[in-house]
Amino acid sequence: MYDHLAVVGATGAVGTLILKILEERKVPYKTVTFLASARSAGKKLKFKGEERTVVAMTPEAFDGIQLVIASTPDETARDFIPEAVKRGCLVIDESGYWRMDPEVPLVIPEVNPEAAKKHPKGIISSPNCSTTQLVVALKPLHDFGVVKRVVVSTYQAVSGAGLVGTRDLIGGAKSYLDNGGVDKYAYENFSAPIAFNCIPQIGGHKERGYTSEELKLLYETRKILGDDSIRVCPTAVRVPVANCHSESVLVETEKKITVEKARALFSTMPGVVVMDDLDNKLYPMPHCCTDKDEVFVGRIREDLSCENGLAFWCVSDNLRKGAATNAVQIAELLQKS
Ligand SMILES: NC(=O)c1ccc[n+]([C@@H]2O[C@H](COP(=O)([O-])OP(=O)(O)OC[C@H]3O[C@@H](n4cnc5c(N)ncnc54)[C@H](OP(=O)(O)O)[C@@H]3O)[C@@H](O)[C@H]2O)c1
Repeated sequence: MYDHLAVVGATGAVGTLILKILEERKVPYKTVTFLASARSAGKKLKFKGEERTVVAMTPEAFDGIQLVIASTPDETARDFIPEAVKRGCLVIDESGYWRMDPEVPLVIPEVNPEAAKKHPKGIISSPNCSTTQLVVALKPLHDFGVVKRVVVSTYQAVSGAGLVGTRDLIGGAKSYLDNGGVDKYAYENFSAPIAFNCIPQIGGHKERGYTSEELKLLYETRKILGDDSIRVCPTAVRVPVANCHSESVLVETEKKITVEKARALFSTMPGVVVMDDLDNKLYPMPHCCTDKDEVFVGRIREDLSCENGLAFWCVSDNLRKGAATNAVQIAELLQKS
């Protein structure tokens, strides 16, 4: 049992939701401390009906803390986590920095809970938001028919880029409408205006024309499913949606999975909700999946271009299941073990 928790990055888009989900899910602990950068020291946050003060993150701030849930930028996670571990903390990290370290488990509780049992570096990573919803949906297909190849195109919300992403959408949309369709907003986060636009780049350019966000869909999927033979062709696109990532997914499996079988497999997968009735215009969309913890799957159909191919569409709240909920579920796993 971990009695003293800390939430690092408590003022951010993911961090504020971690607070809410800790309240909702009644995770057991005795004390919780809220940490962020020195900029936020003294700021007040509402937690369980009380005002709580944010403390600046210093090495000493980790003394006496047993379990940390951290959602900070990669470079911050790189620097502070070894110090927190040295001071006795086990860290659940939302950042991308430690995910591919072979000594750091990458955990989705519905998919690979056993991986959370071994954490030789004192760190457990939570996957990238677009990977989490993909892998939750792929898991039952992989268990039944062995996934060989995935083609995934993402439609990612601005909240995936943190609070500045949301500012860019709202500020840009207002400026565009106020100025008769001319974008005068000086965007802070993205490489182009995001209001009334789509940007086919998320993350830096990395290898063979793929961005860092796209490569996460390849490498993190393989690590979580424990199968390095899975081939993934990803395209990640930022769209002017406030919250919830959507994905168009084509899957090729070793064993044929019919549409009916796929629907049955998705229906029994924990954490998946099937929303699939084209005739009645029932399919997952960001506006109805926001503030929910599940991965919503619809538009399930045969891939007409491939013998053992299946196509589907999935939507999930990137801040919840894609980040905060997943991390809190990992904390619950640890509290139970
Ligand atoms: N947004 C998503 O959908 C999502 C999904 C999965 C994973 N993630 C990952 O989660 C992490 C946080 O993302 P976010 O969207 O919540 O970003 P965000 O809204 O920008 O929040 C960042 C948080 O980190 C804190 N921070 C920044 N520099 C710090 C420092 N030097 N020392 C201590 N705290 C510091 C900030 O504190 P101040 O307020 O004091 O600056 C803030 O609380 C990122 O690594 C991101 O890749 C995000």
